[in-house]
Parts: sequence; structure tokens; C-alpha cells
Amino acid sequence: SLYSVVLPAAGIGKRMLSEIPKQYLTIAGRTIIEHTISVLLKHPQIRRVIVVLNPEDAIFNTLPIAQNPKVETTIGGKERADSVLAGLQHLDEQEQWGLVHDAARPCLSLNDISKLIAIAEQGDIGGILASRVRDTMKRSDTSNTILHTESRENLWHALTPQFFNLTELKYALETAKNDKALITDEASAIEYIGKPVKLIEGQASNLKVTQPEDLLLAEFYLTQNKN
Ligand code: C5P
Repeated sequence: SLYSVVLPAAGIGKRMLSEIPKQYLTIAGRTIIEHTISVLLKHPQIRRVIVVLNPEDAIFNTLPIAQNPKVETTIGGKERADSVLAGLQHLDEQEQWGLVHDAARPCLSLNDISKLIAIAEQGDIGGILASRVRDTMKRSDTSNTILHTESRENLWHALTPQFFNLTELKYALETAKNDKALITDEASAIEYIGKPVKLIEGQASNLKVTQPEDLLLAEFYLTQNKN
């Protein structure tokens, strides 16, 4: 079947040393968000992308990709969870499963999307792309002194897309929001309601463009044409 993707892009991007939100920085002549959306729309199981925008956003609708009939927009909220919930409200009642992807992850591969859907669909709740931690991981106190070394054995980086049963996802995000629980991705909301989330190993090249130096790395992966 065919799935919708919710693409939260309503944040303000404090971490990047630039005035415009990070998804509007340019890599190889195109904004990051356009790279991201065009990879998603190339996938045969993806029917449309719902882009969740900041009410002040004056850029998205000027981009050529905004004219694509498979691209729809809606307005986000205060927290990321509010924005994702706004995107989910845009979906049809009949849609049982859906994806959420970060606008600032343009280097995802079509293969990883297929793998995520194929594996996560077998369960009742869903799953996320993730990559194994490679560095030695340290836990510190607040003055940056090491307390101990964390075992790397079952430690992962959470990536996106994240693929979930939409009834579960809406309930989880609403519950976490009402309880003011700390959630930084969709999986953390599902974890919060105590449901199991599958980790599906994806490529570490699916980075989130957060720091200025990520731009060069993202450009390298994008121009490799590995999709
Ligand atoms: O801040 P962080 O990098 O975790 O944000 C991840 C994504 O969530 C970004 O694409 C950002 O635009 C989006 N977001 C949102 N609505 C908010 C806050 C963040 O759509 N209120």
C-alpha cells in the first residue's frame, strides 16, 4: 500500500549559525528540504508528503517543489510533537500507518525506507531507522567529568524516517504532551506509553544537518547518487 509522510519543519533552527532555518540552506544548488522531499517522493510506497510549516515561514511556498501535487502543507505548533500532531490531523481516517521524517535529513536512501516499512509493518506498533553507536560512549556529570563508560553493546542513534501505526502514534503524542513528558522523536512518545518500538538498522550517512560542517558531508553523500 501507499503511505503519507509527515515532515516537521516548523522549528526555528537555533543551532545553525545562520538566520534561516537549516532546512533552507542550500546544498548543490537546492535547499535541503527539496532534496529531502524529492528522495521521499521517488519511493514507490510513498504517496505524498505533508510539510508542517512555521506560521512565519515565507520561504517554503516560493520553492519549485511546493507546486508538486504530492506535496501538501499545514501549520505546526509550539513543540515538535504539536507540529507532528498537526501533520497527522491532515491524514485520512483510512490510513493505518504513516511515516515521520526530519526535514533536515536529506541523505536517506530509498533502500532504507523499503527496509523500514517491510520490517516495521510486520508488527503492531512500528519501528524506526537507527544506526549502531561506534564511538566509546561516556556519561558525565554537569561539569563534564566522566562518571563512567556506557556499554556500546545495545546503544543506537535514532534516525528517521520513523514508521508507526497512526492510532498508536496519535495517542502516544497526545499522552506525552498532556503529561509534559520529554520527547525528542516519535519513538520516545511510543516508549512513553510502554509499547515496543523496533529498531531497523539503517545507514549512518542519513545524518541530520545540524552543524555548519554537516553541509559538506551532506553534499558529499547527496552527490554520490547512492539512491
Ligand atoms: O530541534 P530539532 O532539530 O529536534 O527539530 C527537529 C525537527 O522538528 C526540525 O525539522 C524542526 O523544524 C521540527 N520542529 C517542528 N515544530 C517545532 C519544533 C521543531 O516542526 N515546534
